[in-house]
Amino acid sequence: MEKTKVAIVGLGTVGSGVASLLLDHGDRTARHAGRTLWLEKAVVRDLSKARDCNLPEGVLTDQLNDVLSDPEIKVVAQLMGGLEPARGVMLQLLEAGKDVVTANKALLAEHGPELFDRARALGRSIAFDAAVAGGIPIITNMSQCLSANQIGSIQGILNGTSNFIVCQMDELGWSYDAAVAEAQRLGYAEADPAMDVDGSDAAQKLAILSHLAFGARIRWNDIPKTGIDTLELTDLNFAKELGYRIKLISHAELGAEGLELSVAPTLIRMGRPLAEVRANYNAINVVGDAVGDLFFHGQGAGQMPTASAVVADMIDTAVGRTPITFRTLELWSERESAVKIRPV
Ligand code: NAP
Ligand code: HSE
Repeated sequence: MEKTKVAIVGLGTVGSGVASLLLDHGDRTARHAGRTLWLEKAVVRDLSKARDCNLPEGVLTDQLNDVLSDPEIKVVAQLMGGLEPARGVMLQLLEAGKDVVTANKALLAEHGPELFDRARALGRSIAFDAAVAGGIPIITNMSQCLSANQIGSIQGILNGTSNFIVCQMDELGWSYDAAVAEAQRLGYAEADPAMDVDGSDAAQKLAILSHLAFGARIRWNDIPKTGIDTLELTDLNFAKELGYRIKLISHAELGAEGLELSVAPTLIRMGRPLAEVRANYNAINVVGDAVGDLFFHGQGAGQMPTASAVVADMIDTAVGRTPITFRTLELWSERESAVKIRPV
């Protein structure tokens, strides 16, 4: 069986899940890729830290250069969070001729145009299905399967941590602080959970999705946002008495005057699909002019659902099956927004 050597940079929650899938289920990659994805290196900061996966001897390293200098490593999953050094590492990987897969939406929402321009100039690809909604294949659907449509609206729950916190408070009466701590323990939250609870993470994902759906470069910081950090148990209880749940809803709608975007806690009537989304799950309602209504639902945060999306992108990249990447590259490099953005 032919082998493609791959590497991981960042072996935290997601990276460890990716390593486990590659090491324990090589047969799946062989089945779908017709070759084995061989985990050659996993780069971390701290070699002494315990890891959530069993790596063979010689795989773990704290030297990025072990990956950069090995021409046989073709595909790298870049799974560090935050902006720097993640941006610098991504550029180094591209310059070294690697195709990159990432789950880092903060990096793409902030530096996407620069990174995709560079990748295109170097003839490399960046795949990022795990960056939005974890295990739900929304990026592939938006970029490929729905390309015959004019998307009219996107409405959904794009942050698993916030949804988990609201559910624990609403249904089990947990305190806000206890729910945040549990979301961190379960690996749903960002390294800085403030990004989850103040709506920033959802706004970054909405910017990425809207860019794909509407062809407009959207600065995530321009999206009006309110997080769940302002909610009190009494708000949730009051909503419940009236027959509603409060969910952190990300919304993009193309109207006659432009694109309206928002992230905000929103009352949703009980029984509606979005009201019944539980725990770390995400859900996205997309309306296209040809396809009509679509509803995507699945685990939007957590180790294995996210690893599922990363490894699928690694397989697609290894076999050159990444048409979304090339289409996306063009889209991301547009300088002018085709759509006037009208904040709500
Ligand atoms: P994490 O648990 O904090 O892991 C981050 C990893 O990056 C750690 O292993 C850390 O190394 C490594 N790292 C940081 N700086 C480094 C450096 N300079 N050189 C080498 N390694 C470095 O984060 P995570 O939850 O796996 O998330 C990773 C990315 O995926 C983030 O962008 C996040 O937004 C995104 N994401 C996460 C989820 C989720 O459910 N967790 C879902 C979708 C997307 P050490 O371990 O040695 O400190
Ligand atoms: N912290 C993010 C969330 C991880 O809770 O949704 C998935 O992107």
